[in-house]
Amino acid sequence: MKIFIDSANIEQIREVNSWGILDGVTTNPTLVAKEKADFGSIVKEICEIVDGPISAEAISTEVDEIVGEARKLAAVHKNIVVKIPMTEDGLKATKMLSKEGIKVNMTLVFSPAQALLACKAGAKYISPFVGRLDDVGHDGMDIVSQILDILDNYDFDTEVIVASVRHPGHVVEAARMGAHIATIPYDVLKKMFKHPLTDAGIERFLQDWQKVAKR
Ligand code: G3P
Repeated sequence: MKIFIDSANIEQIREVNSWGILDGVTTNPTLVAKEKADFGSIVKEICEIVDGPISAEAISTEVDEIVGEARKLAAVHKNIVVKIPMTEDGLKATKMLSKEGIKVNMTLVFSPAQALLACKAGAKYISPFVGRLDDVGHDGMDIVSQILDILDNYDFDTEVIVASVRHPGHVVEAARMGAHIATIPYDVLKKMFKHPLTDAGIERFLQDWQKVAKR
């Protein structure tokens, strides 16, 4: 499974990229708003750091504006993927852009029906938001499972990005289901490292090694 970081923070992206496990980056307007730099320079800098798909979101809501914005974003770097929300205009724009070879990540996907339409429109990626589904009492990962079933039945060239990830359990479940990608916030990536038995084991080994060193 590919691992993306869900962040617009340059330090976080640099650090996780240095671990050697990072395959791409997703951003969204909320994540960009948390940073001081402007959107354009953030996106360019991310493209210089990470050699993989970098999702940058179009904020227009009408088809022609979405397409215009997407073309400008895609021109910034070959690795840019344009994130477009799942709406009627978003679908139309996705169809037009995919014909031009511009990769689209259809975002704010909350149902298998939406995912099917995004695949049909030619989206390269679809992003079901599992945490936000869990928040309203649904089972986010069950929606991912249904989307993967649909993809198994046909020849769509679409990859599922499990998004709105809230804890390492979401990532493990995504991998067990065979989801193509999980986009993971920095704090969750850090948690994936940790296990109390690993820490206790290291401490014990170091203590025991002191006895050997004293011989
Ligand atoms: O980037 C899209 C998604 O991952 C947002 O997550 O935590 O705002 O629901 P969250």
